[in-house]
Amino acid sequence: MTDEKAISVLLKEKRSYPPPPAFAKTALVSGPGARARLQAEAARSPEKFWGQAARRLEWFKPWRKTLVWRAPHAKWFVGGRINVAHNCLDRHLDGPARHKAALIWEGETGETRTLTYLQLHREVGLFANALKSLGVAKGDRVAIYLPMVPEAAVAMLACARIGAVHSVVFGGFSAEALRDRLNDAGAKVVVTADGGWRKGTVVRLKDAVDEAVAGAPSVTAVVVLKRTGTDVTIRDGRDHWWHRLTAKVSPDCPAEKLDSEHPLFILYTSGSTGRPKGVLHTTGGYLVQTAWTTRHVFDLRETDVYWCTADVGWVTGHSYVVYGPLACGATALMYEGAPTHPRPDRFWEIIERHRVSVFYTAPTAIRAFMRLGDEWPAKRDLSSLRLLGTVGEPINPEAWRWYRETIGRKRCPIVDTWWQTETGAIMISPLPGATAAKPGSATLPLPGIDAAVVDAAGRPVPLGQGGYLVVRRPWPSMLRTIWGDDARFRQQYWSQIPGMYFTGDGARRDKDGCFWILGRIDDVLNVAGHRLSTMEIESALVGHAAVAEAAVVGRPDELMGQAVAAFVTLKGGRAPTPELKDELREHVAKAIGAIARPADVRFTDALPKTRSGKIMRRLLREIAAGGAVRGDVTTLEDFTILAKLQKDED
Ligand code: WTA
Repeated sequence: MTDEKAISVLLKEKRSYPPPPAFAKTALVSGPGARARLQAEAARSPEKFWGQAARRLEWFKPWRKTLVWRAPHAKWFVGGRINVAHNCLDRHLDGPARHKAALIWEGETGETRTLTYLQLHREVGLFANALKSLGVAKGDRVAIYLPMVPEAAVAMLACARIGAVHSVVFGGFSAEALRDRLNDAGAKVVVTADGGWRKGTVVRLKDAVDEAVAGAPSVTAVVVLKRTGTDVTIRDGRDHWWHRLTAKVSPDCPAEKLDSEHPLFILYTSGSTGRPKGVLHTTGGYLVQTAWTTRHVFDLRETDVYWCTADVGWVTGHSYVVYGPLACGATALMYEGAPTHPRPDRFWEIIERHRVSVFYTAPTAIRAFMRLGDEWPAKRDLSSLRLLGTVGEPINPEAWRWYRETIGRKRCPIVDTWWQTETGAIMISPLPGATAAKPGSATLPLPGIDAAVVDAAGRPVPLGQGGYLVVRRPWPSMLRTIWGDDARFRQQYWSQIPGMYFTGDGARRDKDGCFWILGRIDDVLNVAGHRLSTMEIESALVGHAAVAEAAVVGRPDELMGQAVAAFVTLKGGRAPTPELKDELREHVAKAIGAIARPADVRFTDALPKTRSGKIMRRLLREIAAGGAVRGDVTTLEDFTILAKLQKDED
């Protein structure tokens, strides 16, 4: 990190939305004073704060020490014994949640299934014993490559129950990507399905597994769930149908009393070099922070129907579809398919049908819905909603306002939650009954989280100035290492800014101390010596009435060092004319300053994105520079976009 120049801050977004009084009145944390007190208390003694949070869970044996910190390695709740599945299931069986819906599932093809806590507990016990019958023992790695069906949660919880370490691989990844992950983790068993439904067609998961396992010698068994009825080959001795395996075992499977630091899961995330990193999370600390944040950030109620739209293949699906909500005894909704199948109002239809009250999704989805037009949500009864959330990217203020007005009908607070695969749980976020929301800002670090914006030497930068987003003290759900590569863990996160965890993101704080995430540092532009955040220019573009989505990158420029190149998708009905290009250039210049005026504006039907919806600016940089795309593209969602973008040079 050689460039110490501050990131220029140009975006002027001043609006602030205090919690609606009716919401604040009954909220878990009510009013800014209450949050400030909680915050101050936690800052005085983070260990005491997290200790109190941990006491809401059931421990087989109490911990001796809350934190042992030998940088960069943390151990939380040292000496404590606990089981995640016990806390997500068994603990609720003695109370009123016994027969409450734990999971409400809707398949893409329209069928629904509800599993109560008691029923889910039974399914997990059966599958845990099934895994044992295949020789899976504590510490063994189990890969899960399933569609969004209840069995994905069952398989995860079954691993947690017996102390096996799961590695969920998103069902959209290729055989090759799966094989690399199986080998890196040394997986013993793969859990998959004959297929899954996506946009009306069957994704042939088992075929990909067959191909991957051919190159993954550690795998000794494959479990196959019958979901679509697709023809698959079953290899004798290696492959087992889920329903046959579970028919042969008992549902009684005692939860292992695991050490607080026992590994819970590995989750692969892409690194800048392309080689995936296996982020390792452990048991006690992870569950404490996911449970605390689920309860407080979503202000969870006994009667909520809570829907996080993430796939279990991402960390959001781990922490906020499965572990956080179930640890809180909530009713979580799970949907298998595409957001717009068979019609663009599928999500709104689901909210209407199941009376969803808390809805948590990604900015990329919100922008896509904005583009499809207001008539789709307008047709549906969304009055059950009381809280909205976003995660995954900075949300452009324009999209934020659309979300608030068109989906939340101006009634629901919005929580913009910043966190990462590596942080395991939410770190920076409003508390909906206490924090005034600002469109585009994740607002404040949660109590017990010491996030800061610093320069390359680790000194805090003045309010208003851009810098590097870091976390200065350990937190319970932090990653413990990179699986099999502790050197990379140290190098990647702990070597760039002395003594602190570096997130890889740029950020600034406003005069109220609120955090504005400026995006990945790798994406920062340098135009005539000014470091500009791509996110701010994109937000200015999305603020124009014709624009649905925008991605901004730098391309080499002799005069300026870098010039701003913008890729823009338009709202339905808007024509891509040369006049509109000029209009957009001027719009940016007016909104944030002439320095940010795009040199190029290119219209495109779609932007290249990762499968979790993040724009792949790296690829766009290569296209903007006029070259061919050379880097790793294995995480790209739709390859045809690249070809189109390259052809469209004008
Ligand atoms: C970005 C997803 C702005 C950020 C949970 C981070 C965000 C990366 C936000 C992690 C947000 C996530 N505002 N940016 N609310 N949430 N990000 O590992 O760049 O898939 O570092 O975890 O997404 O992405 P990951």
